[in-house]
Amino acid sequence: MSTAPNQSKKNTIVSIQKKADSQIPITMLTAYDASSAALTDAAGVDMILVGDSLGMVMLGYQTTLPVTMEDMLLHCRSVARSVETALLVGDLPFMSYQISKEQALTNAGRLIQEGGMDAVKLEGGRQRAESIRAIVEAGIPVMGHIGLTPQSVNQLGGFRLQGKSAAAARQLLEDALILEDSGCFSIVLEMVPAQLAGYISDRLKIPTIGIGAGAGCDGQVLVYHDLLGLFNRPKLKFVKKYLDLYPLILQALQEYINDVRGGTFPAAENATSMPEEEWQAFLSLMNE
Ligand code: KIV
Repeated sequence: MSTAPNQSKKNTIVSIQKKADSQIPITMLTAYDASSAALTDAAGVDMILVGDSLGMVMLGYQTTLPVTMEDMLLHCRSVARSVETALLVGDLPFMSYQISKEQALTNAGRLIQEGGMDAVKLEGGRQRAESIRAIVEAGIPVMGHIGLTPQSVNQLGGFRLQGKSAAAARQLLEDALILEDSGCFSIVLEMVPAQLAGYISDRLKIPTIGIGAGAGCDGQVLVYHDLLGLFNRPKLKFVKKYLDLYPLILQALQEYINDVRGGTFPAAENATSMPEEEWQAFLSLMNE
């Protein structure tokens, strides 16, 4: 009997590129823990991103800036343990790759070796070319990320649309071409005008994955919690809520609290009992 893991179902950067070449739209979702990753994988998504958005979604920060390598590794490991098929992409957090290409390579290696990821993602354009080359040369697939790059929120002046002027659009196209040339297997385009995202996608051979970038990209990514409506906050324009779970979960939690307080939970069917003779024997023991 073979003890080798069944790798036949596993998505790879080669199967992702094949999809793009065949013009089959690529799907990607974030997941940050074992249960959301198992569900996302069972649904058949092509790629799972353990995004540093976990800082805002799971850890309660206002931005992704405080997220550390240790935070990322904890969540990457829990996702990796419960996924069989999806290609796993782990985000390099703020200041884990900006200092030098050596630092970028070391931390990319940690996401693969310690976090169980198949690929890494990092933010930024031409200024990342050298680090991307070093990571790719070590055999680690890299996903680029341009447009709105949340780790630069303070420099960008907020979470806002990028590439609106002709000059900014040209810069973004140049960045995308440089990232492709540096060896990225795919690029996230976040909050980029739809015409520009479509134009960039047509110019690149590698697939683009859009978020707030319209339908012209080769694939789409959404944050799991946004898609399921797990937050009680106004929906962002580019998000489609496929479920509105927040009020449903809130109601279920309130029913539980009311049931416990009202004595209707646990009911007889939620409890276990000892055989009657053992119970009687126990009571006799207590009376000795
Ligand atoms: O961290 C994240 O979830 C991301 C996606 C929004 C692309 O980078």
